[in-house]
Amino acid sequence: MDMPLPTRGRLDPAEMVQEGRVHRAAYVDPAIFEMEMDRIFGRAWLYLCHESQVATPGRFFATQMGREPVIVARGRDGVIRVMFNRCTHRGAKLTMDETGQAKRFVCCYHGWAFDLDGKLAEVPLPEGYGDGAYPPEDGSLDLVRVPRVENYRGFIFASLAAEGPTLAEFLGPVASSFDDMVDRAPGGLLEVAGGVSRHAYDGNWKLVIENHNDTLHPRFVHASSVAAARDQKDTVHSDGAGEVQIKQMRQNGAPAAVWESLGIWASASGHSFMGDYHTDAHMAARPAEDPVQMAYRKALEETHGVERTEEILSIQRFNTVVYPNLSFMSRFRQLRVVQPISVNRTVVTTYTFRMPLAPPEMFRDSIAFANVVNGVGSLVLTDDLETYARVQDGLASQGGDWVDVKRGMGGDANEANGTLRGQTGTSEIHLRAQFAAWRRWMTA
Ligand code: FES
Ligand SMILES: [Fe+2]
Repeated sequence: MDMPLPTRGRLDPAEMVQEGRVHRAAYVDPAIFEMEMDRIFGRAWLYLCHESQVATPGRFFATQMGREPVIVARGRDGVIRVMFNRCTHRGAKLTMDETGQAKRFVCCYHGWAFDLDGKLAEVPLPEGYGDGAYPPEDGSLDLVRVPRVENYRGFIFASLAAEGPTLAEFLGPVASSFDDMVDRAPGGLLEVAGGVSRHAYDGNWKLVIENHNDTLHPRFVHASSVAAARDQKDTVHSDGAGEVQIKQMRQNGAPAAVWESLGIWASASGHSFMGDYHTDAHMAARPAEDPVQMAYRKALEETHGVERTEEILSIQRFNTVVYPNLSFMSRFRQLRVVQPISVNRTVVTTYTFRMPLAPPEMFRDSIAFANVVNGVGSLVLTDDLETYARVQDGLASQGGDWVDVKRGMGGDANEANGTLRGQTGTSEIHLRAQFAAWRRWMTA
């Protein structure tokens, strides 16, 4: 029997995810959103940043873990720590800068100064605090650390919960996407570079991570940008960047058979990845005999040898979603962090990575790719954002309580690597996996 219309905050998350369908309250109910911040963002491993963003002592990166403001900082000892961005005196946030170089974190309010490792180092006019034993020796006024921090091949994650699965257990088979990204970089070296792109949309945070492995939508949502790209001459831009953009947009109009034959894999933690739908040898408008490609391959062979290089370059992977807050493209070195703001507002920040030991043209290609796929001027991105807003509006209506996620259901197959594979490339297996994880976090 169908459940009654949602009464705010009165729905039980356990009832909201059923076989092949999800209750719309998951997207529109502010009380459910608050619960998600506590139970999902307050417990799961969340991606924070790449270690290159805090490469040397004193470098810091400030971000949010759900509701919680945190600072990732590399100490004088080289250790990366994650602390709450909250002064232990009367609570002011210690930094409003997103990145920077600090000797100490000095509070704007009464000047308490904290070392890079969070230790309260100096208090102005200490005698005024009673016995004058300020800062106290016992560390009771040091910054509070986020309970768990782990680094997988340079990607830093943290969890607000003291207990739970390890990062390796949490990532499971999706760790292979990070391997793909790092292994493709000569010397295993990657660094965030080229600035940051950020946009917000009027919709629930789940919409973007659902969309990135939704291979059914490009032919429809992106029809107009595909048509515009098809109208362009192949040679419209001569510096290479235009070719990257046109090729990428045209690929969105690939025939149904291309999408159906793609692989899509999901794992128990709600993560997923899809195969690469680019039919070219390399999307970046550079054939294998291109001098840049040849130099890249040579650099990679110096790291891995010929055989292993071949194996690495043969991996076909496009988007990977790490539930709940990360989506990245290992092959194209694009990474997107999802920050929920409210039940119907979300911010997405995109980073591009440079491979310092690869030919510099490859970084230019990555930036061109970033602009067409993730940049705020991107035609495809704006198509998607418009769609999220329409979905959000539709779900807020009384035109039905359920979201249907049955495509491909019953055809999911176990794979040796611990994933489930969708029956075809357009299966909604990734949505079923995300909501299975959602239900588990929300009811545990
Ligand atoms: S609130 Fe930070 S020093 Fe007073
Ligand atoms: Fe899209």
